[in-house]
Amino acid sequence: MTPPPPLGLIAELTHRCPLQCPYCSNPLDLERAAAELDTATWLRVLDQAAEIGVLQVHLTGGEPLARRDCSELVAHASANGLYTNLITSGVTLDDRAMAALLAAGIDHIQLSFQDVVASENDRFGASPNAFAKKQAAAARIRQAGLPLTLNFVIHRANAGRVPQMIAMAEALGADRTEIAHVQYYGWGLVNRAALLPTLDQLHAATEAVDDARARLSGRMVIDYVVPDYHAARPKACMGGWAQRFMNISPAGRAMPCHAAETLPGFTFPSVRDVPLSDIWNSSDAFLRFRGTAWMKEPCRSCDRREVDWGGCRCQAFALLGDTHATDPACELSPDHGVMQAAVTESEGAAGAYVFRKPRKDVVLS
Ligand code: SF4
Ligand code: FES
Repeated sequence: MTPPPPLGLIAELTHRCPLQCPYCSNPLDLERAAAELDTATWLRVLDQAAEIGVLQVHLTGGEPLARRDCSELVAHASANGLYTNLITSGVTLDDRAMAALLAAGIDHIQLSFQDVVASENDRFGASPNAFAKKQAAAARIRQAGLPLTLNFVIHRANAGRVPQMIAMAEALGADRTEIAHVQYYGWGLVNRAALLPTLDQLHAATEAVDDARARLSGRMVIDYVVPDYHAARPKACMGGWAQRFMNISPAGRAMPCHAAETLPGFTFPSVRDVPLSDIWNSSDAFLRFRGTAWMKEPCRSCDRREVDWGGCRCQAFALLGDTHATDPACELSPDHGVMQAAVTESEGAAGAYVFRKPRKDVVLS
C-alpha cells in the first residue's frame, strides 16, 4: 500500500554555523561546504516535494542563512505552495537578510536562544555578542509581522531559568515558545554527562512550564520536550520512522531522521539521482522501520506500538548497539537500566563541554 505523503520536508541546507553549541545534534563528522547540494538541485527537490504532497518545508542546518541562496529556496518553495519555516540562530539575520526573506514569502521563523542570560548564551554558542544579535533578530521578525517561535534548549546549566526564558519570549512578542530538553544525538551525546539535568531540575522545569501555560493560555503556546533519560515511555521519534517527515542532508542524502546516518547497514538514496516519490514509497531506507513488522518483543505485542512506534531507532542503536531493539527510554525495555546508569554517571560529572568544532570553510552570507 502506498503510504500517505510526508507532512514535512526537513531541508538541512548546510552544517556550517557561526555557533558551536555542545548539544548540537548535527553529526560529529560535519559535511563540508564543497559537498553541499547546489541551488538547482534544491530547486528540483522542492518541485518534487510539492508534487508528492508535502505541506511544509523546514529550512535548517547548521545555519540555513549561511547559504547565499536561502531566500531563493524560500521563494521557490512558496511559489510551489509550500509552507516555509526557517530555523535559525538569528545571528546573521540582519536587515538585508530579513528583507530578502520577506520578499521571498517566508511564512514563519523559529529563532533559537542558548540562554536568557547574555553571557551564558554567548558562552554556550561560543559566539561573542550572539545574544544581542538574536534580540535584534527577534525584533526584526516581529516588526515584519511574521509569526515568531522562540526555542530554548534546556540542560543542567540553564534548567533553573525556564520562568525567565518564558518571560523573555513574552516580552519579545513570541507566539510560541519551545522549551526543549537536549536530545542526545551527535555532539549532545558526546556531552551527555555534563548536560543531563537532575530529576529535581526536570520536575522544576516541568512545573514552570505548567504554570506558564496556565497563565498565558490563549496568548502564547508553549511546547515542551522532555529528556528521554527521565522518561517512562519513549517519544514517537519523528512521528514514527518514515511516516511524517523526510530529512535531506546537506549533501543530498534522504533519511527518515537527522541521525539515521549513524545506523549501520543502510545506503541512503541521494536526491541528486532518485526522485522523492521513489525514496518515500519504495526505498529500503524508508521501508525498513516503517510500521510495526520489524519489531521485536516487548514492542511487538505492546498496545502502544502504533503510538510511539518503538521509540527512536538511533537511540536504540547508540545505547544498545541494536537497531531493532526497543528504545531503552521505555520502562518495558529489558535494557531500561542504561538510562538510569547514564543519569547516575552524570551526577558526578563536571560541567566541561566538548564544543562542536567550527568548520574552517564557514562562509556567511
Ligand atoms: Fe513503545 Fe515498545 Fe515501550 Fe510498548 S514496549 S511502550 S511499543 S517502546
Ligand atoms: Fe533517528 Fe530517532 S533520531 S529514529
